[in-house]
This record gives sequence, structure tokens and C-alpha cells, in this order.
Amino acid sequence: QEFVGKDGRRYILREFRASDLNAVVSINRRVLPENYPEWFFMEHHLSFPKAFIVAEMNGELVGYMMNRVEYGWSYINKGRAARKGHVVSIGVLPQARRIGIATNMMLRGMNAMRAFYEAEEVFLEVRVSNTPAISLYKKLGFEIAGRIPRYYSDGEDAYIMARSL
Ligand code: ACO
Ligand code: ZN
Repeated sequence: QEFVGKDGRRYILREFRASDLNAVVSINRRVLPENYPEWFFMEHHLSFPKAFIVAEMNGELVGYMMNRVEYGWSYINKGRAARKGHVVSIGVLPQARRIGIATNMMLRGMNAMRAFYEAEEVFLEVRVSNTPAISLYKKLGFEIAGRIPRYYSDGEDAYIMARSL
């Protein structure tokens, strides 16, 4: 799936493959303090292959979005259970930001969670200080559904943000 970024640079979005593992691990370490072992990425790839999206520019990976689908209490229809898409981790390298890559990965990942894994809503946790990410999610129609005190290992709180699919 080919895109032209806001500045004219081209990139493609496609599903993660096992050969992308090293590149995705390295992007995750560069852009986020929440890092995971290799098996954690592979487990999401094996369980929800259609919903693990990477962005490639000039043959190099510049972003990823890793998701899963869970069953539990709805953030949208309070008091009911639902199949919930969970955005586990998303990141774009600094040199490829602000041209729409995260927006398009979110749209494709959310669509895959709905179409292939019957997710009825989508949610994520985000640091309360992460204004860029919170703006991205608000633009995509997410709303703050809760706040988890000291969710992160350094003591920062998380917002839970959610929207229906
Ligand atoms: N400041 C303010 N708003 C921003 C910023 C920023 N630095 N970056 C993005 N936005 C908002 C804007 O509204 C932007 O639209 P605009 O450019 O037309 O103004 C909108 O988000 C869409 O931006 P994209 O270009 O689609 O986003 P990008 O590809 O730059 O990626 C991301 C955004 C993923 C947050 C990137 O900055 C990043 O990798 N940050 C570090 C990692 C991170 O914080 N990941 C999210 C953690 S939470 C989680 O993983 C569930
Ligand atoms: Zn999470």
C-alpha cells in the first residue's frame, strides 16, 4: 500500500514479517522507554498478523504499529463486554514524523482489527505528558476513557483513550 507523505516523500505500509524483527526492536528502543523482548513482538505477529503494520521508506523501516484484540469490559458501552482492539505500541523514527505515517498506520491497524478480528472498539494507554501522541489519537476520534495512576515504571500516569470501530 503506497502513500505520498505531506512533504512528498513516499512510503509503503505493509504487514510485519519475521525478517523485520530486528528493525522493529531497534525503532522501539529509539523512540519509547517501554521496550519488550523479541518474543513479545513475535507473539503479536503470530497471533494477529493482519494487525501488525510497518512503514517502509526507501527500503528501510521507519515505523511500526503492533496490536492485539482482547475480550473484556467495554470502555464505550459501560457495563458491557466487548471485543477490544488494543494498540500495544506505535512509533515513528524522528526523521519520518509529521507526514502522516502514524495516522495511516492507525487507520490501517484499526481497520484490520475490525475486519479480521471482529474488534468493536479500540483502546490504548498513553503517558499523560505525551502531547504529540494524545493529539494524534484525538484527531482519530479517540476520547479519554480513564486514567491509571503510576502506570509506567517511572511513576507517570497513563490515560486510557478509546473509540468505537
Ligand atoms: N506535536 C503536536 N501534535 C503532533 C505532534 C507533535 N510533535 N506529532 C503529531 N501530532 C499530531 C498532529 O495533530 C498531527 O497532525 P498534523 O501534522 O497535521 O498537525 C497528527 O498528530 C498526525 O501526525 P502524524 O504525522 O500522523 O504522526 P507521526 O507519524 O509523526 O507519529 C507519533 C506520531 C507516533 C506519536 C510519533 O511522534 C512518535 O513515534 N513518538 C514517540 C513514540 C510515541 O510516543 N508513541 C506513542 C506512545 S502510546 C502507544 O504506543 C499506545
Ligand atoms: Zn497497552
